[in-house]
Amino acid sequence: MPGSTYRARALAGTLLATLASASSSFAEAADPAKPAATPPAGPTGNSATAPGGEEAFNNACRTCHSMKPGDNRLGPSLSGIAGKKAGATEGFAYSQSLKNSGVTWDTTTLDAFIANPDAVIAGNNMKPYTGISDAALRAKIIAYLEGAK
Ligand code: HEC
Repeated sequence: MPGSTYRARALAGTLLATLASASSSFAEAADPAKPAATPPAGPTGNSATAPGGEEAFNNACRTCHSMKPGDNRLGPSLSGIAGKKAGATEGFAYSQSLKNSGVTWDTTTLDAFIANPDAVIAGNNMKPYTGISDAALRAKIIAYLEGAK
């Protein structure tokens, strides 16, 4: 639970500040004077929803996919992909296999597709992409996809 570690650190900081100065307010305690105490290493402010998910997406998917609506690259934009029918993004030239797959993207189908695209939709054109075998890494990426609009 990364959140509780952070809260514990914040609490320790508050206690120290309170001990150091009886008059120190909560606001002062929450605003650390020591820069070394500042950085809880997260790429974005909302990493509580999907810790590391954006980074994992950037590493594995961003070469071909953007999360910006309408920003189709080598692959279609993945904005709002969760809950969507496969092959439904405007303006992208999908393979026939993907367009006619009848798949709807949810946690289960996304997970299977990211693990091994051909096992879910034979003849898809998501190439060259070799799949991610690490289930925890896939879960992070999917949480990021589901959280981003
Ligand atoms: C080498 C480029 C490339 C990489 C890397 C890649 N994709 Fe794709 N992706 C594509 C292409 C091209 C398509 C369209 C395939 C087709 O038309 O058959 C696609 C399609 C998809 C679709 C279906 C979209 C829809 O509108 O139905 C999903 C979901 C998807 N990719 C997720 C991912 C995720 C998540 C990653 C990273 C783990 C990833 N892709 C990595 C190129 C890529």
